[in-house]
Amino acid sequence: MGDIRDAALARGGRDRIDWAAGEMPVLRQIRERFDKERPLDGIRIAACLHVTTETANLMETLAAGRAEVVLAASNPLSTQDDVAAALTEQSGVETFAIKGEDNDTYYKHINAVLDLRPMITMDDGADLVSVLHTQRVDQLAEVLGGTEETTTGVIRLRAMAADGALAYPIVSVNDADTKHLFDNRFGTGQSTMDAIMRSTNRLIAGKTFVVAGYGMCGRGVAARARGMGAHVIVTEVDPTSALEAVMEGYRVMPIRDAARVGDLFVTVTGDTGVIRREHFELMKDGAILANSGHFDVEIDKGALRGLATGGVRRLREFVDEYTLADGRRINLLGEGRLVNLAAAEGHPAAVMDMSFANQALAVEWMVKNHATLEKRVYPVPVEIDREVARLKLRAMNVEIDQLTAEQDEYLHSWQQGT
Ligand SMILES: NC(=O)c1ccc[n+]([C@@H]2O[C@H](COP(=O)([O-])OP(=O)(O)OC[C@H]3O[C@@H](n4cnc5c(N)ncnc54)[C@H](O)[C@@H]3O)[C@@H](O)[C@H]2O)c1
Repeated sequence: MGDIRDAALARGGRDRIDWAAGEMPVLRQIRERFDKERPLDGIRIAACLHVTTETANLMETLAAGRAEVVLAASNPLSTQDDVAAALTEQSGVETFAIKGEDNDTYYKHINAVLDLRPMITMDDGADLVSVLHTQRVDQLAEVLGGTEETTTGVIRLRAMAADGALAYPIVSVNDADTKHLFDNRFGTGQSTMDAIMRSTNRLIAGKTFVVAGYGMCGRGVAARARGMGAHVIVTEVDPTSALEAVMEGYRVMPIRDAARVGDLFVTVTGDTGVIRREHFELMKDGAILANSGHFDVEIDKGALRGLATGGVRRLREFVDEYTLADGRRINLLGEGRLVNLAAAEGHPAAVMDMSFANQALAVEWMVKNHATLEKRVYPVPVEIDREVARLKLRAMNVEIDQLTAEQDEYLHSWQQGT
């Protein structure tokens, strides 16, 4: 069942899921334990995540724990159709996702997974939570808890909890150190560059590369762009993050100044209207714009369309050229949706290994502890976070030192001084 593009794609999807599994040793160990212990027996899980090879490995891990799992896409452009086919046809995980689906289909798919009447929701951007709390409130009492993958989703959930509107507890997977320090930074860094290069085949070296937002994702993108020889400019609204960028050696300036000089622009702020009409009006002919933040609101596409009186044409698969009245051309990648998932394959499996290990363990923790939890956003328990780091290091054959008894005592005492 499910709703996928083409069941015949399943074979190729299976091969790519297996390839990703090779870089996901932590998740594999969890899956083996889940298979023995069946901690999710009888639990119905609805997931709304990017439908990628790494997500498939997470879905199969939950199924190994004996959960009943269904999956919808968390973005209309990020679905890998072969993976959706393999999950539905071979793994028993009904998947509702078609790359390029329109908005109506996107929400039809979200409603389809909610028809399972989930006991656990697993979100990337809080869309399941949002539909449950607005259109399907009769189901809220059946939900034990949920998990949330990304910064933008966590912001939405914290706002709901502050308003007293959140109806069940949610674990913020994004806040785990073994998630955001690696996935957001190294994952978004590499995969955003990958998407820009795949979609444009432009040389990065020597270009002026503007990164809007110097948070976890922005740091990764800026470092990778610099590593490839770009002159990197950072724009920020937070003084501390801006100062860090300055001391890392980046040029920092307002977006209205960066707009005049940039060749390539990447937004990673989680904010809205970061690059807008007044900035498009200043840009050089041929400027390339991409967004790697969660929603497609960081670059004001409506304003760009409005300015493009000279027309819009698709030059390459993920490149739309907007021609302004004076003939200047501005190129938008992946329709302004998160470019690393729209125009490439999302994060490499090695980082999703940690993010999704946290997801799997957070679900197990929620199933065990939901009865004692309040209706608010919880961090991933620190023992889980550290265990994921330990397992990852072990899988990478990296050993670290242990505190001696003397060091342990020293670090826990206050009497010893000079
Ligand atoms: N593409 C992906 O695969 C991927 C992966 C992880 C997170 N995300 C998303 O990327 C976005 C950023 O995540 P993060 O973890 O880096 O968040 P973060 O909170 O660590 O960083 C965001 C930064 O943007 C800055 N900012 C806000 N408004 C701005 C503006 N108008 N101009 C310039 N800077 C501004 C903030 O001050 C902050 O420093 C979120 O939407 C998140 O959900 C995407």
